[in-house]
Amino acid sequence: MTAPVITIDGPSGSGKGTLSRLVAERLGWHWLDSGALYRLVALAALRRGMALDDVAAVAELARNLDVRFEVDGQGAPVIVLDGAPVGGELRTEQAGNAASRVAALQPVRDALLDRQRAFRQAPGLVADGRDMGTVVFSDAPLKVFLTASCEERARRRYKQLKEQGLSANLHALSEELAERDRRDAERSVAPLKPADDAVVLDSTHLDIESVLEQVLRLAEERN
Ligand code: C5P
Repeated sequence: MTAPVITIDGPSGSGKGTLSRLVAERLGWHWLDSGALYRLVALAALRRGMALDDVAAVAELARNLDVRFEVDGQGAPVIVLDGAPVGGELRTEQAGNAASRVAALQPVRDALLDRQRAFRQAPGLVADGRDMGTVVFSDAPLKVFLTASCEERARRRYKQLKEQGLSANLHALSEELAERDRRDAERSVAPLKPADDAVVLDSTHLDIESVLEQVLRLAEERN
């Protein structure tokens, strides 16, 4: 029997990263942050001086991506790319925007498909991304699409960056998010959209705890 999956898709800054990590923690399930894979491909391409629209080269890189997901002595997740841990560089807006460019290339998405599906292991998987419910795990018994207004998402992202001691400009962030959403939603391959059978949750006026409780209730009903 294949392990159950809960997919959590949505636009940048909707809170799906935090939500999916918490759901995985509460259920004791595995967690897939698929956005990190696209960010890693983009980062590896930039480091090699590749043009992000060089489809053949970036797809080849994605197929052979040398990445390991590990935990450190304190139990915190560590991503190791090309033999060295990747730090905050992965979470920058620059990496997110570059990820969104390579993610629009079908051969790159194809190259990452098996790697993502390999995360589906007992007792279960919580998968976070843009196309988890529509493409990668289209048979998932519970699909959530988490959204929030663009202003609220920019505000949350701004707060997050400030807390990490990084500089940020709210207006610029809001414009970058809108541009990334547009690119993700309008692309011809695996566009950002709720699966037909997804439960759509709007977190604009909800805190993460109440969204978490809703998803856990749905998980209990469906699995
Ligand atoms: O979720 P995160 O912001 O880390 O994702 C970075 C980019 O990777 C997104 O803007 C999107 O273009 C791409 N992505 C995707 N499909 C996924 C996850 C992320 O296209 N499943």
